[in-house]
This record gives sequence, C-alpha cells and structure tokens, in this order.
Amino acid sequence: MSLDSRINLQKLPKHVAIIMDGNGRWAKQQGEQRVFGHQNGVRSVKECTEAAAELGIEYLTMYAFSAENWNRPQEEVNALMSLLVSTINSELDTLNKNKIRLMAIGDLKSLPNECYNELMSAIDNTKNNDRLTLVLALSYSSKQEITFAAKAIANDVLNGAISIDSITEETIPKYLFTSNIPDPELMIRTSGEHRISNFLMWQLSYAELYFTDKLWPEFERQDFFDAIVDYQKRERRFGKTSEQLTE
Ligand code: FPP
Repeated sequence: MSLDSRINLQKLPKHVAIIMDGNGRWAKQQGEQRVFGHQNGVRSVKECTEAAAELGIEYLTMYAFSAENWNRPQEEVNALMSLLVSTINSELDTLNKNKIRLMAIGDLKSLPNECYNELMSAIDNTKNNDRLTLVLALSYSSKQEITFAAKAIANDVLNGAISIDSITEETIPKYLFTSNIPDPELMIRTSGEHRISNFLMWQLSYAELYFTDKLWPEFERQDFFDAIVDYQKRERRFGKTSEQLTE
C-alpha cells in the first residue's frame, strides 16, 4: 500500500506513543460487550504498527493495560490478558518477517504467569530485529515508574554507586523503564479524551499531543498518517522563540 505523499520522510518523529481509548464505547455502539471492542482494537494495533514500520518510525509505544485497569471487572481483565497472549502468539511470525522488535514496559511481574512467560519469550524471539521497536505498556503507571526510579536511585546512593551531588536531570531517565528508548515526540490519544492518564509523564514533557474523536477500533492506517501530517505542521520550540529556531 502507498504511503501518504503529504508526509516528509526526513522529518519523522523517532518515537510515537499512543493511548488507545474508546474500545468499550465502540462495543456499546455496536450493541456488544466491552470485550468485543478490545478484540476489534487489535486490528488498529496492527494497522498502526505496519504504518509506523513502513514510514521508518523507530519506536511505537502503545498503552495496552494500565496499572489502574486491574480494577476493572475480573472477566474483562481476564479477556484482555488472553487477548494479549493470543495476539502475541498469532503475530510472532509477522513481527519477525517485518523485523519488528517487541519490548514491554510496566510492572510486568504483576501479569499472570502465562502472559508474562509468553511476553518474555516473544521479546527474546524478536530481540535481533532492527526495524521498528513496538513497546507495549502493560500494568504501566507513570507515577509507579517514577516511584520505582526514586527507590532505585536511593538504593544506589546508599550502596555508594552514585553520589547525591551527581544526580541531574539526565540521571532520572536512566532509572525509568524506558532507559534505552528516546522520548516520544508525538502522543496520540483516541476517543475524544484530552488527558495523559498517568502515561509516560516524564517522557512526554516536550511531546506534541494529538487528540482525535475516533474510537480506537475505528482508528486506521490513514488516521495514523493524519496524525503524523499534523505533527509535521507544528513548530517544536523547546522553550525557545521562533526567531531563535531559524538562527
Ligand atoms: C481502552 O478502551 C483500551 C484498553 C484498556 C485496552 C487496549 C487493548 C487492546 C486494543 C487490545 C490488546 C492490545 C494488544 C497490544 C494486543 P476502554 O476500554 O477504556 O474504552 P472506553 O473508555 O470506551 O470504556
């Protein structure tokens, strides 16, 4: 399939993050149970992954399950976990064929054993792929991530690995789950909600935010391209003036 000619391939974001929202509402509109929405959301995950790989984007992070999502009805949590296992299983060959590396961030140890093992084996199986890195945020909470980092830093101070005076803004990211991943330049959220919802709060500090009313199962390849086109129209200033950028 052709790429979008409006996209400047020299000005791509290296890392795009997505909050996939609206599965439940979409299912309700269809007169179906919430799980039906999650099942159909997998198609959008695949479309965006393919689109990102074709463009040459290096990292795509998807918020698949938040730490707060454990509070949903047990039936829905179970369905999401099985969907994750079955999708990883059914897509492993495609990931390898397309040279896509799988990674995961979050409190992964809290996932059910089967899910954790399946995930770790897929991560290991795809670790040498060098096109796109697909990062799944699972049992992820940004506040929890920063808390873990604070504890690990305190521990390294106590054991003498680092000194308090050596801690700078560059130290913190080394202790986050995303330590080897560049910060996202673009964050997309579907379903008309305009919130960050405890997602990559440190890493999104300078990201462009793109919101669309489309519900996640309706979000297709072309919608992903539209978000990239919108991103490329924006001027990224990092606190500088427009004039300074052209100097
Ligand atoms: C948010 O919609 C969506 C989720 C909590 C789950 C996202 C999961 C998938 C798309 C499927 C599995 C993913 C992978 C990577 C295999 P919501 O349920 O909060 O929707 P609502 O706000 O309309 O209720």
